[in-house]
Amino acid sequence: MPEQMHPSFVNVIRQKERVKEKLSGIKHKIGVYSAKGGVGKTTTAVNIAYTLMKKGFKVGLLDADIDCPNLTMFLGVTEKMDTSKLPLEPLVKDGVKVASTAMLVDEVKKPIIWRGPIITKMLGDFFENTNWGELDYLIIDLSPGTSDGPLTIMQLLQLDGFIIVTTPQKIAATNSIRSGLMAKRLGISVLGVVENMSGGMISKNTEEIASALQTEVLGAVKMDSSFNTFSDMGKVPVLENEDIYLQYSRLVDAIV
Ligand SMILES: Nc1ncnc2c1ncn2[C@@H]1O[C@H](COP(=O)(O)OP(=O)(O)OP(=O)(O)O)[C@@H](O)[C@H]1O
Ligand SMILES: [Mg+2]
Repeated sequence: MPEQMHPSFVNVIRQKERVKEKLSGIKHKIGVYSAKGGVGKTTTAVNIAYTLMKKGFKVGLLDADIDCPNLTMFLGVTEKMDTSKLPLEPLVKDGVKVASTAMLVDEVKKPIIWRGPIITKMLGDFFENTNWGELDYLIIDLSPGTSDGPLTIMQLLQLDGFIIVTTPQKIAATNSIRSGLMAKRLGISVLGVVENMSGGMISKNTEEIASALQTEVLGAVKMDSSFNTFSDMGKVPVLENEDIYLQYSRLVDAIV
């Protein structure tokens, strides 16, 4: 490490090395991302993770949405991680290892209000102290936006790539392109685009995202009110509904 480097920069590099070491048993780390909120990132991350598990892979699911970590609600998980000793152990829910920043805070409904440097520190500490062991895939659910949360993950986690989630509308496409360009600027590849809440046919807006980011459309997941019913019950759609499983199965086959 060059001697003249600023100490805070040296700390970031050292933390990145520790995180790399901690995650060295994971073969593939894939982020699920979009700068736009509410397009179905968490839904996509959860269902891709459980589809991979159903196909026989060892899978982990990391909720790295530090502002509104609600992945646990989609899974019906209310348990906390034991923070009295390190490393932190993910919980196992229906065959998938799960860790969320929500499992660290006492009261999920309280707003989490942190400034940039605290977000970076908190996520870094979380990543370097969680024991995932050996996994084929770690699927990471990100918060929307292009600021501190997603940026920290892009800088610290050395991802294999991102899946960009969009909906058929033009406004989602504009923000999706922004998300993909941010990832690419940070040297992370975009594995493909998923059109969620789809009408069936892939929209031209989704095709435009893929072409702007020089990637492919992985497939579509139809708009279906049963997603809301399952999430309210804390049940994973691909474990409950064969038609939904087949839609995710096609997406997953395009990336494995
Ligand atoms: N294909 C779908 N059809 C119908 N509803 C869906 C579909 N996918 C997701 N939803 C619903 O849309 C809502 C938003 O989904 P989700 O929380 O996954 O989005 P998000 O992009 O992670 O949001 P945020 O930006 O807040 O993190 C949820 O109520 C979810 O159940
Ligand atoms: Mg989400």
